[in-house]
Amino acid sequence: METQIMFSIFSLTLFFSSLLHPSLSELCNPNDKKALLQIKQAFNDPYVLTSWKPDTDCCTDWYCVTCDDKTHRINSLTVVTGDLSGHIPPQVGDLPYLETLMLHKQPNLTGPIQQSITNLKNLKYLRLTWNNLSGPVPQFLSKLRNLDLLELSFNNLTGSIPASLSKLPVLGSLRLDRNKLTGPIPDSFGEFRGEDFYLVLSHNQLSGKIPASLGKKDFSYVDLSRNKIEGGAAALFGLNKTTQLVDLSRNVLEFDISKVEFPKSLVSLDLNHNRITGSLPVGLTALDNLSGFNVSYNRLCGKIPVGGNLQSFDYTAYFHNRCLCGAPLESCK
Ligand SMILES: *[C@@H]1O[C@H](CO)[C@@H](O)[C@H](O)[C@H]1NC(C)=O
Ligand SMILES: *[C@@H]1O[C@H](CO)[C@@H](O)[C@H](O)[C@H]1NC(C)=O
Ligand SMILES: *[C@@H]1O[C@H](CO)[C@@H](O)[C@H](O)[C@H]1NC(C)=O
Ligand SMILES: *[C@@H]1O[C@H](CO)[C@@H](O)[C@H](O)[C@H]1NC(C)=O
Ligand SMILES: *[C@@H]1O[C@H](CO)[C@@H](O)[C@H](O)[C@H]1NC(C)=O
Ligand SMILES: *[C@@H]1O[C@H](CO)[C@@H](O)[C@H](O)[C@H]1NC(C)=O
Repeated sequence: METQIMFSIFSLTLFFSSLLHPSLSELCNPNDKKALLQIKQAFNDPYVLTSWKPDTDCCTDWYCVTCDDKTHRINSLTVVTGDLSGHIPPQVGDLPYLETLMLHKQPNLTGPIQQSITNLKNLKYLRLTWNNLSGPVPQFLSKLRNLDLLELSFNNLTGSIPASLSKLPVLGSLRLDRNKLTGPIPDSFGEFRGEDFYLVLSHNQLSGKIPASLGKKDFSYVDLSRNKIEGGAAALFGLNKTTQLVDLSRNVLEFDISKVEFPKSLVSLDLNHNRITGSLPVGLTALDNLSGFNVSYNRLCGKIPVGGNLQSFDYTAYFHNRCLCGAPLESCK
């Protein structure tokens, strides 16, 4: 009883002193607050950051940021849709406890990816997507040793993909799709160490062959569609893999599919619009989980193997080949 009363008096005292001296009870770290207010100003005082006011607590009163429960340091800055404009300001590098940085759907966010991001040693999730960022995918991103996810999709990035990204020790997801990237897929990309790896490089202008070294990596998900990739794709397949999705559609791949051994785990395989030759291997009927399949617009020939899920796909999964036949296409002569 007595302790309860003591406690109430104590809380009341705290409450009143916090009214008199708001700074005493403020959780927000002053360095974080200073950096955030500079970031707000650099973004041209956007409407989406209206709640960021100097006299309020960034841990309790501000939108688009969160503080760590224990350290009360800013650990996430997430702005999805809004009116940020200008370049990413260097002060984003002054939030040393940041684990998540996500700036999404900001059409007026332009310029290059800021080098000071490499100061964010705790960063795990870097998502700068659907903006208008330009310049290269920077080499320096490989300094972010804790990065688990790197997504730079839907921007205006140019140049080639830095080989050094494969040095990121815990990266599990790399998405650079829908930019204007050129050059080859780096040889080093067979060396990613993260488990359950997602690699999405679609909708760019990548060229060259799929490096044989990719055979060393068991990707979960590989989307290289809509590029200018040529040659074979053997490195992505093989019975010892557990890959679920492979999309290589709309490239200029040219290989004989007859002897390819597809992983049993495949759920979706899209090879449409390439220059693939040969006949479909019987092994495809053993893919129990295959629910998406498309080999249309290639140079395939021969009878579609009967069995598994192969007859469950409609004829458009097979049409526009040299001489494929059998269900769901017309029967072979
Ligand atoms: C982007 O900038 C243009 C021109 O200044 C402006 O009209 C438009 O509203 C801005 N878009 C957003 C989402 O703020
Ligand atoms: C993207 O930025 C470029 C200049 O770098 C500009 O010309 C273009 O209009 C911007 N696009 C959008 C969708 O805001
Ligand atoms: C990319 O930049 C070009 C010109 O620099 C611009 O015309 C285009 O709209 C930009 N693309 C996007 C997706 O903003
Ligand atoms: C699969 O086997 C190939 C050789 O056939 C080997 O190079 C590769 O490292 C193996 N991959 C995995 C994930 O075990
Ligand atoms: C097919 O899917 C089921 C359910 O998700 C899963 O348990 C099984 O391991 C999958 N088969 C293969 C060969 O990956
Ligand atoms: C296969 O891809 C072609 C070309 O993009 C498309 O027209 C067709 O609808 C697709 N069919 C299936 C079953 O996915």
